[in-house]
Amino acid sequence: MSFFHARPRRLRTTPAMRRMVAETRIHPASLVLPVFVQEGIDTPVDIVSMPGVQRHSLDSLAKVASDAVSAGLGGIMLFGVPTEEHKDPSGSYGVDENGILNQALRRVRSEVGDEIVIMADTCLDEFTTHGHCGVLDSEGRVDNDKTVQIYTNMAVAQAQAGAHMVCPSGMMDDQVESIRFALELDFHDVGILAYSAKYASAFYGPFRDAVACSLTGDRRTYQMDPANRREGSYEAEIDISQDADMVMVKPAGYYLDVLSDVARLSPVPVAAYQVSGEYSMIQAAGQRGWIDAENALRESVLCILRAGADVVLTYGAMELAGEK
Ligand code: PBG
Repeated sequence: MSFFHARPRRLRTTPAMRRMVAETRIHPASLVLPVFVQEGIDTPVDIVSMPGVQRHSLDSLAKVASDAVSAGLGGIMLFGVPTEEHKDPSGSYGVDENGILNQALRRVRSEVGDEIVIMADTCLDEFTTHGHCGVLDSEGRVDNDKTVQIYTNMAVAQAQAGAHMVCPSGMMDDQVESIRFALELDFHDVGILAYSAKYASAFYGPFRDAVACSLTGDRRTYQMDPANRREGSYEAEIDISQDADMVMVKPAGYYLDVLSDVARLSPVPVAAYQVSGEYSMIQAAGQRGWIDAENALRESVLCILRAGADVVLTYGAMELAGEK
């Protein structure tokens, strides 16, 4: 092939030309909206560190869910924010069928049925007094196997409450296998979206505000070291071998190498989570007039898809679907 007179600019001449040849597109069905539901509030509360994002009451959550259906989104991912009295060292309110997250799942399922994929965060950090994603041993370390037992009960309770997919995000070893085994009994159609390559990231800061997480310290003994690329593939392979229906890379935008590796090796669909810090930095710069937030958000999600994600979780899902 000779490149003597190559003029690749021809395909960039008009919007119609560019649209026709675009290799990657943002489609609402590929987007999942994470939603916070807070116990004990009647009206939505703004989250200061996440412009445009709110914590919802059970009623306003129902409206968000039906709006997400109208927008054609792929799914919504629910996170529960309990009152302080409902936190304890083992996060038992997360498992309780009347805990805020399970109530929210029942409410959303009765509101929208199977019109959208209802996903549940299967993790304890919102529900524990110490803010860790699991229970602590006598030395104060997160006890892997005891935590997995609790996740497993939590997943069954979430399936019972109406989740189409449970989403273990605590990075405990063998969490997928144990949950899969328990779901086989009565809920073999409930899927597992595994947070496989989840890194110990500073970009979760605004989220921890949003869920009023009580954590002091960090999660570096269970979440992955941002220095590691190969380990992301290893974690995804383990979860796939344990029958995860989908795997995830998180955060997304700063981990496109890991995402691209996982997308290449994975026989199951791959999700990527554009986390609170990634979202809020764009919004904050936009508010100052330093960046065009709408275009930056679109570009950031496009790039995550381009790197190989099949599904993107983003707080900007409704804007990207053109509904807000
Ligand atoms: C843990 C969890 C976290 C996020 C989603 N699930 C926080 C953490 O690991 O500390 C972060 C999401 C975000 O920053 O948007 N249940």
